[in-house]
Amino acid sequence: MKEKIEQLQKTALESLEKVSDLKELESLRVSLLGKKGELTGILKTMGSLPAEERPAAGQLVNNARAFIEGRLEEFKTTLAAKERRKKIEEEAIDVTIPGRTKTLGGLHPLTKVKSELIDIFIGMGYEIVEGPDIETYYYNFDALNIPEDHPARDEQDTFYIDGGFALRTATSPVQVRVMEQGKLPIRMVAPGRVFRSDEVDATHSPVFHQMEGLVVGKDITMGNLKAALENFSKALFGENIKVRFRPHYFPFTEPSAEMDVSCFACGGEGCRICKGEGWIELLGCGMVHPRVLKMSGIDPDVYSGYAFGMGLERTAMMKYGIADMRLMYENDVKFLKQF
Ligand code: DAH
Repeated sequence: MKEKIEQLQKTALESLEKVSDLKELESLRVSLLGKKGELTGILKTMGSLPAEERPAAGQLVNNARAFIEGRLEEFKTTLAAKERRKKIEEEAIDVTIPGRTKTLGGLHPLTKVKSELIDIFIGMGYEIVEGPDIETYYYNFDALNIPEDHPARDEQDTFYIDGGFALRTATSPVQVRVMEQGKLPIRMVAPGRVFRSDEVDATHSPVFHQMEGLVVGKDITMGNLKAALENFSKALFGENIKVRFRPHYFPFTEPSAEMDVSCFACGGEGCRICKGEGWIELLGCGMVHPRVLKMSGIDPDVYSGYAFGMGLERTAMMKYGIADMRLMYENDVKFLKQF
């Protein structure tokens, strides 16, 4: 029996050498010391020994158990430490590795220009209003004094919709909608989408954006119009910008003008951007035609007003030096990232 026990201890040590994790260690423990384990097996054979040998044999078995338990325990501690070390190594974080940056989206140049214009006009006391994209002929043409035979009414310019509607060709109808409400004085700008049956090219798109302005009150003059638009241009392009007004024709204003700003790129010397002119056209404007005031229920003998309208794409192209309008709709991230 003594030999058996010694043999067991020896193989126990050998098996221990091969154990590589805590799970294996536990099954080794069960197979050696468990209820059905080898040592218990030896203990069971003690009954066949003569009575006087039993205490010594019992002692042997207990010693062996203590010995094996001790070894197992020792090994368990080293193994646990080893496993912990391994886990820490695996989970180690290198705090010196540069972080992965998230690419953030940004505002579209058109959105940026629109917000900037809105901010400027709010600062000048204007209200922001919006009107519908689909308009009746009345709001889009008649109420703006656009005659029946005006080329703007042509099918080639306007997207018509069955039932007397059209996609608005300008933001100007919003003027009429606001005037009809009869709350005077009026000081408003209306940004929005407009539609024209144009072929796509570097400066045209069938859908684009405008911002309309309207001021109506008592004693509003062309002088007020010029001052307001000059201040606005300086706020948008900087204090050094100059403006000039050229006579023009619009059915809804009388007199009418187009306003140019001195080229922001060359300061008026003449360059590629202003095509050598030194000036760039920014907007159309004028004094609201008495007939337009009257049609909207405002007495032209008491009130007067000025109006203006500008293209947002055009303004964004000027402001950011974008040469082709199509870039603004293609949404190539490489392009958009620059703003
Ligand atoms: N409606 C004009 C256009 O689409 C722009 C415009 C010009 C608007 C003069 C106005 C204005 O209010 O007074 O080209």
